[in-house]
Amino acid sequence: MNAALLLEASPRFGRSQSRAAAEQVICRLKAREPVLRVLRRDLAAAPPPLIDEAFTEAMYVPPATQDEGQRRALAQSEVLIGELEQTSGLVISTPMNNFTVPAVLKAWIDQVLRLERTFSSTPAGKVGLLADRPTYVVVATGGFVTGEHARQPDFLTPYLEAVLATLGIRTVQFLYLERIPRGTAWSAGEDAQVQSWLDRHLPR
Ligand SMILES: Cc1cc2nc3c(=O)[nH]c(=O)nc-3n(C[C@H](O)[C@H](O)[C@H](O)COP(=O)(O)O)c2cc1C
Repeated sequence: MNAALLLEASPRFGRSQSRAAAEQVICRLKAREPVLRVLRRDLAAAPPPLIDEAFTEAMYVPPATQDEGQRRALAQSEVLIGELEQTSGLVISTPMNNFTVPAVLKAWIDQVLRLERTFSSTPAGKVGLLADRPTYVVVATGGFVTGEHARQPDFLTPYLEAVLATLGIRTVQFLYLERIPRGTAWSAGEDAQVQSWLDRHLPR
């Protein structure tokens, strides 16, 4: 991996648990690959545009025949897809919001999943057109979502797995930060569970 894309989705900038743990993932990636280039896309600071009528019309027009207006409608989508194409690793840091991904991450998904651009539709199903890559998804939740204490559905994990697989990305590991009290002196760098996950998936 020579370049990684970091997507950040928490609207909390200073005290976000998902952002803090994702920094630990980036630190490990850099420890393994000192010249690693990290491209940061802060989805909470600058949310991708929502899909509108112009986008919906333009996305079905083959690139060679798109007019100026259609190209403009897809311009931000091209920027975001370009970031995936320029990188060979992906880190997604996200809270769970109402059992799934936050709206800003859904907006990014709507911009990058494009028929005949990032995936093809075949009789056997959707086939991703992007290269597979090591992908690490850091998910912060207020309650439990895994194991015997889970009392809520988790639509985030299967949904992101399906989205990434549709793009062609299948090498995906999830790190869950569950029910960590807010406002305490929690530190991702000193959290034993975070460190043991890093040792397992990204050994030094
Ligand atoms: C609008 C909203 C919806 C949330 N929905 C859930 C949820 O469905 N399940 C859950 O366990 N926590 C939920 N939470 C709690 C957050 O996932 C949790 O506070 C998380 O730590 C936030 O991530 P951050 O620390 O990176 O900002 C929700 C929080 C907000 C603000």
